[in-house]
Amino acid sequence: MAKKKMILDLDTGIDDALAIAYALTVPEADLIGVIGSYGNVLTPQAVQNCLDLLDMLGHPEVPVFAGPTHSSTTTTFSVMPISQRIHGMNGVGDVSLPHSSRTAEQMSGRDFIIEAAHQYGDDLIVVPTDPLTTLAAAIKKDPAITHLIGNVTLMGGALTIPGNVTPATEANINQDPVAANEVFQSPLPLTMVGLDVTTRTLLTKKKTAQWRALGTTAGKKYAAIVDYYIDIYADVHPHLNGCALHDPLAVAVAVDPSLVTTLPLNMKVEVDGPCAGRTIGDEELLDQPVHSQAAVNVDKDRFEQLLMTHLTTLFQNN
Ligand code: RIB
Ligand code: CA
Repeated sequence: MAKKKMILDLDTGIDDALAIAYALTVPEADLIGVIGSYGNVLTPQAVQNCLDLLDMLGHPEVPVFAGPTHSSTTTTFSVMPISQRIHGMNGVGDVSLPHSSRTAEQMSGRDFIIEAAHQYGDDLIVVPTDPLTTLAAAIKKDPAITHLIGNVTLMGGALTIPGNVTPATEANINQDPVAANEVFQSPLPLTMVGLDVTTRTLLTKKKTAQWRALGTTAGKKYAAIVDYYIDIYADVHPHLNGCALHDPLAVAVAVDPSLVTTLPLNMKVEVDGPCAGRTIGDEELLDQPVHSQAAVNVDKDRFEQLLMTHLTTLFQNN
């Protein structure tokens, strides 16, 4: 089978950094570009983190594009204090990374998605692990891409458990519910990897110690970054006993859907009212052909093992 082409759209915080590392190692897909956008950090910081991480991981050939700087319904954006706490002021646990001398591409992230959709069609997988503003903007500019892109596997939302910003909403969806609704209600073949499954997949300091022990730059930096995240999770979500592997799970599911069981369901996002930001079945589309699905269970052990195997191999050589 031909290798898929993958685009990552990130608000480059700590689990986004894990998603980049995972995407560089999967045999099923080539990472053809990364978009850095607002969310856990401001867009310029997200872009810089993408550049720094890719270079540190030995992949300076992967181009980085800038995403939007704010949601589709606002004109500015400030990082939420809880995001600063969870991901650090610089998005990577306040760990300093070797500075990349590269800069972002001239083309915007939105236009890169459109160009890649026309070039690769069904072979293209888009994995947003950030607000859905970039993808919604691409659909608005060129609606034909909804029939070209092979699959969108996104980290965001919650169907069977409460959100992590309010009881109704998860962080990525909460940043731009209008854009998220446009993506969910488009005809895109879509898989939602939400809190239902991502909060079941965890990493502990026993595992990060293995990366530190490699003695490489990437091993030591990633161990420090993820230890920061684990410490914050112990404060903010003590019942989990580790940090949630939100964003790398989305990458893993994008190339190996058998990691999760899904509920086929046409969904929408509530855009206002007390449940603003809630991802839920669209009651008006229950009898329509289903184009989307929500992950509701995960083979936690297999994914955690895959993550350790893939990332340890990558960090060994960088
Ligand atoms: O709710 C978790 C999501 O919000 C993750 O993608 C995390 O990186 C933040 O963007
Ligand atoms: Ca993210």
